[in-house]
Amino acid sequence: MYAKPNVVVLTGAGVSAESGLKTFRDNNGLWEQHKVEEVATPQAFSANPALVYRFYNDRRAQLADGAIKPNAAHLALAQLEKALGEQLTLITQNVDNLHERAGSTRVLHMHGELLSSRCTGSGHRQVCTVAFDRKTRCQCCAEPRPLRPDIVWFGETPLHMDTIIMALSRADIFIAIGTSGDVYPAAGFVQLASESGAKTVELNLAAGTNQRYFDEAIEGPASEVVPAYVHQIITAFNDKGR
Ligand code: APR
Repeated sequence: MYAKPNVVVLTGAGVSAESGLKTFRDNNGLWEQHKVEEVATPQAFSANPALVYRFYNDRRAQLADGAIKPNAAHLALAQLEKALGEQLTLITQNVDNLHERAGSTRVLHMHGELLSSRCTGSGHRQVCTVAFDRKTRCQCCAEPRPLRPDIVWFGETPLHMDTIIMALSRADIFIAIGTSGDVYPAAGFVQLASESGAKTVELNLAAGTNQRYFDEAIEGPASEVVPAYVHQIITAFNDKGR
């Protein structure tokens, strides 16, 4: 029987754009009216914690807005997980929960998650769906410590890197979806996958900065190009399996 391919998918803000969530760099470099260095650096958190807590509380609350729903791209990737099982590795730079809401069960959130908090003492991460601020204490340490948003800020180390590097080294197909290719290490995954012999594909509304590293690029809205590409992958291994 034809073996299923090992597929690694990397998603960025573009996959959630049609669900009503703003991307980072498509609005004059502002993320929801803020410069990234005002809300997404450890320095910003030290200088103005109230602003940073409020910003992520607002983003978390936005996810509960009934109008924000997974779109056809998230749904297609959940379908790909059903078809490939553990042979799909889904990595996202997004901190929203739209992949999970579409049905994906093994999402690697390399830049953290809005619906999670982190203890500033132990680093312990836990599910958190409500607003919190510097007065909210985590009870995991002997002396309770403040919680911080569980977001990987600029200058911090992304999560799940060992698992990601291992998956890239085994990939037959690497697909980057809706990401500008501006932020490392994610922007370099295409080269790692290529070096391991994977076919590399970019699906984006407009070419990302690193498009030259991809074998194939398909331009269009994620809600159209992702379902079409997922269908192509599933059909290919079903046909060869006959
Ligand atoms: N369909 C497909 N792609 C889209 C769509 C769409 N409907 N709308 C926008 N895009 C693409 C844009 O062309 C762009 O390449 O999404 C990309 C968004 O780029 P960024 O805003 O830079 O987002 P991303 O690449 O996810 O940013 C990476 O940077 O600020 C940090 O930590 C943050 O995770 C984030 C990281």
